[in-house]
Amino acid sequence: MIYCDHNATTPLRQEVLEAMGPFLHDDFGNASSAHALGARARQAVEQARAHVARLIGAQPSEVVFTSGGTESNNLAILGVAAEVGRSTILSTPIEHASVREPVQALREHGYTVQMLGVDPVGRVDPSELETLLDGGPAALVSVGWANNEIGTIQPIDAIGPLCRARQVLVHVDAVQAAGKVPVHVRGADLLSLSAHKLGGPKGVGALYVRRGVALRPLMLGGGQERGWRPGTENVAGIVGMGEACRLAAAELTAFAAASRVLRDGLWFGIEDAIPDVRRNGPGEMDCLPNTLNVSFEGIRGEALVAALDLEGVAVSSGSACAAGAGEPSHVLLALGRGRMAARDGVRFSLGRTSTAHEIEQVVHTTIAVVQRMRAAKGRDLRHE
Ligand SMILES: Cc1ncc(COP(=O)(O)O)c(C=O)c1O
Repeated sequence: MIYCDHNATTPLRQEVLEAMGPFLHDDFGNASSAHALGARARQAVEQARAHVARLIGAQPSEVVFTSGGTESNNLAILGVAAEVGRSTILSTPIEHASVREPVQALREHGYTVQMLGVDPVGRVDPSELETLLDGGPAALVSVGWANNEIGTIQPIDAIGPLCRARQVLVHVDAVQAAGKVPVHVRGADLLSLSAHKLGGPKGVGALYVRRGVALRPLMLGGGQERGWRPGTENVAGIVGMGEACRLAAAELTAFAAASRVLRDGLWFGIEDAIPDVRRNGPGEMDCLPNTLNVSFEGIRGEALVAALDLEGVAVSSGSACAAGAGEPSHVLLALGRGRMAARDGVRFSLGRTSTAHEIEQVVHTTIAVVQRMRAAKGRDLRHE
């Protein structure tokens, strides 16, 4: 199996597994316990917090551990909304469901929701944001650093100051960006991370909360994580996330450069050999270095994903959560594609373990599968 679906999840790194090991065995203490075993767990959690903070340029005290990106996004959006009361929330139509759905829930509870437009490659325009912010008071802007389906990177460094100048909070979903491009909390008041997207375990994430930001917890029943995330800490998971973030920070530049070379090789290989293909999202600069989303005219994304799977190549259409739903991608729809065309995107997302040899094989297999599917379709059409 050649795994090209790293935006869905990444394999757990060996170093991460080794760092977690003791906390699944001998060091099983509760980080809140007063004895030595508890103290060891607490120390490990705090060390992990420091590693996470370092990856995003935050203070450790501003990092709250959660169960993953989905919870971080919900806590940021619903937690701020609960504190500020009915008000205006701004977001974009290409966000992950864990942002779109809480925003939609707020709309149903009487909050005003405004959507920023995106251009044909998925970028928001900071000047449109400025106009909307000047049009009336807002409480929160929620924008993803990088899109999970097409890789578009948003101009967070421009968005942050616009909001700060107007005392509007900024939440950034950096789940896909962290570990792939430099991420810094300069332009954000809240920022979401997920461990399993960067070589860590599933079911653990973090929310950066800038000091002074008022946030209401979603759950009650314990004082852990300064009351924002009550419940006994997932010590092994948190340790794994810390180690994954430490490694990601150390390897960021090399990883980005290596995956860009492989990703570009993949695109050129496909583009050179297969007619009527279209790249979805930005080409070079404002795109995640590991992500390539392509539409092959006449071929439904889901059908190609299934055919490539049979040949041992794992990719996805839309996001992992939407895959299989047969629905057009909300991201491609927002880019202006029709409902049919918005079903055609196939996402190849590369990772630390991807190799040039694998990419050659993926190109080769994709060419063969697309030719076969198009030929079969031509035959079907002739028989109609
Ligand atoms: C952009 C983005 N945000 C949030 C999430 C959710 O993260 P998790 O799987 O940790 O809940 C994902 C996962 O696909 C994502 O791609």
